[in-house]
Amino acid sequence: MTNPAAQPTIQLPAQYVDQIRPRLADRRVCVTGGAGFIGGHLVDALISMGAFVSVIDDLSNSSAELIGSAIDRAPDRVRFVQGSILDPGAMGSAVEGAQTVFHLAALGSVPMSIEDPSRNWTVNGTGTMRVLQAAQNAGVERVVYSASSSAYGNNPALPKLESMAPEPESPYAAAKYGGESLMRTWSACYGLDTVSLRYFNIFGTRQAADSAYAAVIPAFVTRYLDGKSPTVFGDGEQTRDFTHVSNAVAANLLAAVAHKPMGGRVVNIGAGVRTSVNELVAMIAKILGTQEIKVDYQPDRVGEVRDSVSSVELAKSIIGYEPATNIEIGLGQTVKWYVDQHGQNLAAKGESS
Ligand SMILES: NC(=O)c1ccc[n+]([C@@H]2O[C@H](COP(=O)([O-])OP(=O)(O)OC[C@H]3O[C@@H](n4cnc5c(N)ncnc54)[C@H](O)[C@@H]3O)[C@@H](O)[C@H]2O)c1
Repeated sequence: MTNPAAQPTIQLPAQYVDQIRPRLADRRVCVTGGAGFIGGHLVDALISMGAFVSVIDDLSNSSAELIGSAIDRAPDRVRFVQGSILDPGAMGSAVEGAQTVFHLAALGSVPMSIEDPSRNWTVNGTGTMRVLQAAQNAGVERVVYSASSSAYGNNPALPKLESMAPEPESPYAAAKYGGESLMRTWSACYGLDTVSLRYFNIFGTRQAADSAYAAVIPAFVTRYLDGKSPTVFGDGEQTRDFTHVSNAVAANLLAAVAHKPMGGRVVNIGAGVRTSVNELVAMIAKILGTQEIKVDYQPDRVGEVRDSVSSVELAKSIIGYEPATNIEIGLGQTVKWYVDQHGQNLAAKGESS
């Protein structure tokens, strides 16, 4: 039986569905990194829109479970190429017949990029170029790229506007920004339409909670449920624009179906709300019904930015994006899902012992 943790968990607002479905139904699209956190949710949404979806993922930061579940649900609609975006043969096979490529495959960890900048550049920089080359060769119409708000770096101006000069502060941020430049270049030189979506901190169900580099929300909730103190790097007063994954998925779909050429443009995808890590911990405590969560404060991490919040005005005007799911609703759903998973894992351990 398919793992219940791999079942679809997000719903898109009805107004998006009506707008998007007619433009994606029965079209072939390719999702790189489609076995990962955001990619997995995007694949679920694309299936629900009636698209044929080819996924390429090397499973270096994901398991076959999510994609296996998607294939079980829609065997005639989902095709999986297990391979690297760096491999032209695998990429060529993945993009065959696709009208749109959603490029999400990347190594996502800032600390890992500092430890191993070459590997980071190979996958996030060179890998992005290989995706563009494969898309160009296959006659793809548009590439929608998952870029990162880390491109803004520590520029203190808030909110972040796309017109601000990028100041990447880590090898990860530099490579993701390099990817945006490649997107613009392929639009300018080769007539392949592209758009870069600069995500702010994306959270939601199915985000990995068990790696050393786990994103803050799953790491907090899981450590709390395990009876341990969540770790906060710095004083917890750093702020982020925590953005529910359904907003990122909607942005990808809207960017794919937009009528006007995107011409390599860069748009912020956030919720437009600034929340400190300490406020986030308090919100999680409230959802869990506990007075307070004891936090283990550790020194700041190199390469982490202090404050971040998006302006989403450009995304609104260019692709009609609205952050429809706010942090309260998104966090409530997400924490509940982790609590359910935790209960099921404990029950499974109990049964097997
Ligand atoms: N999660 C966030 O908050 C956030 C913020 C900004 C940008 N992004 C970007 O969004 C995208 C998706 O992020 P995510 O959080 O879902 O990460 P994720 O790690 O869950 O997903 C990335 C997927 O890419 C795959 N992958 C890695 N290297 C590959 C390669 N060489 N070939 C094929 N597949 C490969 C991994 O196995 C994984 O399944 C990334 O490009 C990331 O940089 C994410």
